[in-house]
Amino acid sequence: MTIPHLDPDHIPRHIAIIMDGNGRWAQRKGLARAIGHKAGVKSVQKIVKAGRELGVQVLTLYAFSSENWQRPALEVKTLMGLLKSYLKLELDNLTKNNIQLRAIGEVERLPAEVRDVLTDTINCTAANNGMILNLALSYGSRQEITRAVKAIVGKCLAGELSDAEINEDTVNDFLYTSDLPDPDMVIRTGGESRLSNFLLWQASYAEIYITETAWPNFRRDHLISAIADYQQRQRRFGKTGEQVQKQP
Ligand code: FPP
Repeated sequence: MTIPHLDPDHIPRHIAIIMDGNGRWAQRKGLARAIGHKAGVKSVQKIVKAGRELGVQVLTLYAFSSENWQRPALEVKTLMGLLKSYLKLELDNLTKNNIQLRAIGEVERLPAEVRDVLTDTINCTAANNGMILNLALSYGSRQEITRAVKAIVGKCLAGELSDAEINEDTVNDFLYTSDLPDPDMVIRTGGESRLSNFLLWQASYAEIYITETAWPNFRRDHLISAIADYQQRQRRFGKTGEQVQKQP
């Protein structure tokens, strides 16, 4: 793999990753799906480190979706166990690398022992400002938007907000990601071409990058290739190419 040169002034501020392909990676090797998830944790560690070194400000990883609760109980248990051990093991590294941990999603649905270590890690890293590692856990975009709508209606019924005041910023304010920039790029590993209920509002203008590489094989060089691809693109946000070029 030739490693492309990156423009350090044009690194996406926020990269969001759908870490797909763990199960197929394992099955291709005749191994249990759980081994694929375990191998996926190694990629998480490598990509967090690489993201920080490359100057990414926010890295959101889709670690467990609202729909993943429907997987076999043993697989859910394995994923929860991996998450807990990752959080315990990673605290030192997050601290050393000045990385702040956050979580988005219905984290109250996580087992208490995972929630406890998650809360501890979030609290211990809250003052770090080198990069935000944002884990999407029990996360679903439709659920997030529904939650926001309910909260907005609640404010209206309480007389704290009028319908005339509701705009895109209001909706944004009630999302888990309210104080984060929108993702500039969504990467999906494992070759499938769908968003799978991930950041549907926030990724409205994200550049989508799909790679056949399965998540357990995804490394720093793959991330660099994805960013290089991003740097070749012209982001138009609904305008014409000419209009965008004329902008200062
Ligand atoms: C999708 O692969 C991946 C997941 C559902 C879980 C991702 C979890 C990890 C990478 C490890 C735990 C996370 C952290 C942050 C420590 P899949 O099983 O759907 O793969 P397939 O499409 O090949 O079956």
